[in-house]
Amino acid sequence: MRILLTGAGGQIGHDLIGTLVAAGHEVTPTDLAPRPPSHAHAGGEWQRLDVTDAAAVTKLFTEVRPELVFHLAAILSARGEADPRLAYDVNQTGTWNVLEACRALHVGRLIFTSSIAVFGPPPSGPLPDPTPDDVPLHPTTMYGVTKVSGELLCAYYRARHGVDCRGVRFPGLISAAMPGGGSSDYALFMYVDGVRKGAYEAFARADTRIPLMYMPDGVRALLELAMADRERLTRTIYNIAAMSPRADEIATSVRRLLPDAQFTYKPEAVRQGILDSWPKALDDAAARRDWGWAHAYDLDAMTDDLVPRVRRMLELGATLNTH
Ligand SMILES: NC(=O)c1ccc[n+]([C@@H]2O[C@H](COP(=O)([O-])OP(=O)(O)OC[C@H]3O[C@@H](n4cnc5c(N)ncnc54)[C@H](O)[C@@H]3O)[C@@H](O)[C@H]2O)c1
Repeated sequence: MRILLTGAGGQIGHDLIGTLVAAGHEVTPTDLAPRPPSHAHAGGEWQRLDVTDAAAVTKLFTEVRPELVFHLAAILSARGEADPRLAYDVNQTGTWNVLEACRALHVGRLIFTSSIAVFGPPPSGPLPDPTPDDVPLHPTTMYGVTKVSGELLCAYYRARHGVDCRGVRFPGLISAAMPGGGSSDYALFMYVDGVRKGAYEAFARADTRIPLMYMPDGVRALLELAMADRERLTRTIYNIAAMSPRADEIATSVRRLLPDAQFTYKPEAVRQGILDSWPKALDDAAARRDWGWAHAYDLDAMTDDLVPRVRRMLELGATLNTH
């Protein structure tokens, strides 16, 4: 299959490209940024594409003629609060441009990557725990606002123009890669700084609990949804879930492998506020029913796999931001 990725240089693109290439697909990775060194050997020729540039999106889609598009390009939650205008341009206008190109060029299928950031505390009280697909959406961040809009645009283009757009609401994703400025980054840094410094001061409270997922499950979810029969899908966008540990439960899991690691908690107001506005856990019954979604990694299984990978990544000299 001819597959194009936007935002391919990011955390998800890193793992998704390799999986798609291994499955024999013809992959065109695109991103605003040049190919990162970590993505050196994956996919076809790297194409520079700014999704906010409508003409450039149409031109490249015309050249590549993708049958399937994974639309990953976005500005994530914490960075989006620092620069809401940029988040609006990339997430809102960029998604519009990609949908328009899919409509005009009859692209068969588009996969949209939404987020738990579409949720926020409703005026009537806290979110249900676990939070189902269909609750009133009251996002508190520009990132969440643009993801709600992207979900609605997907449903609109599907109903009005027959663009087969489908998507998942990802929990915070954890992998041995450079995080992109999301509010869930504290979880990954427990592993990274646990390995390289033997200590980490989290920017979240010890009792912070949000839905998380290990990247191999996240990549598999995208592929399984992309390949699912349209007739089986009763929704455009699906909650998917794997685990919902508290921050101090992640620390306990990491300490099984790194017994000397010290974890402390110093909540930082903006990111803690974002984390507190999100669901504690997701109800993903529709995804499990419609396309057979099932996660493979719980917290300890993720820790067992991730700690050696983080160690290897650090030995290879990867430079990560500390938050
Ligand atoms: N990582 C998570 O925890 C998570 C959770 C929920 C949803 N998602 C969604 O999954 C998708 C991919 O996330 P990720 O973790 O790989 O993010 P990331 O920040 O690691 O990567 C995003 C990529 O988009 C690119 N980009 C930024 N502006 C662009 C533009 N104008 N044109 C083209 N590319 C541009 C960046 O260069 C970057 O490579 C995003 O849509 C994100 O909202 C991610």
